[in-house]
Amino acid sequence: MRILGLPGSLRDASFNRQLLELAAEQMEGEAELVIFDEIEDLPLFNAELETDPPDPAVARWTRALREADGVLIASPEYNGSITAPLKNALDWASRPNDDAPLDGHLVAVMGASPSSRGAAGGQQVTREVAERIGAVVLDAQLHVARAPVVLDEDGLADEELRKQLAALVRALLDATAARCRDRT
Ligand SMILES: Cc1cc2nc3c(=O)[nH]c(=O)nc-3n(C[C@H](O)[C@H](O)[C@H](O)COP(=O)(O)O)c2cc1C
Repeated sequence: MRILGLPGSLRDASFNRQLLELAAEQMEGEAELVIFDEIEDLPLFNAELETDPPDPAVARWTRALREADGVLIASPEYNGSITAPLKNALDWASRPNDDAPLDGHLVAVMGASPSSRGAAGGQQVTREVAERIGAVVLDAQLHVARAPVVLDEDGLADEELRKQLAALVRALLDATAARCRDRT
């Protein structure tokens, strides 16, 4: 199984990127999690850029989505909402309207922030946007609050958060496996 990891932050030292790396470790042996590292190469969405052939970065993004069996988004929130790079990537993932690459995909959403809310507002908006595009967003959630305290080079220092991450990964793998079985 192939899971596409999508970080909503462009920072190299992103806590959310680190969450994706922890999820990748947990998937080892069952699925490969490939982090899409080119979100910043996507042009700002403009309908005039919906060309044939498509922009190369857009083509790589839509191909990565179409090749994925499931999607795992990890993102901070900016000003209580979705980050601009993530919204831009999702807007591209919604086109073309009648064959959107995210449509029908299984998606899990998690997030980390230094605040006490763990990017909850941004995650909620992300879930709504993904559902609007036609994705099936899993109920499992992970809000990593106080990220600089609970997330270090050794991973998540908090037992409860480790359990929630494991549960979210399990939910995504189980749903993805069931869907792959149904397809065969
Ligand atoms: C423009 C901007 C807006 C932000 N707004 C919020 C916010 O609404 N809530 C929050 O918890 N953190 C907010 N933050 C702090 C981010 O959560 C923090 O920078 C986080 O570490 C970013 O995630 P990353 O480590 O994955 O890059 C904001 C940061 C920036 C740069």
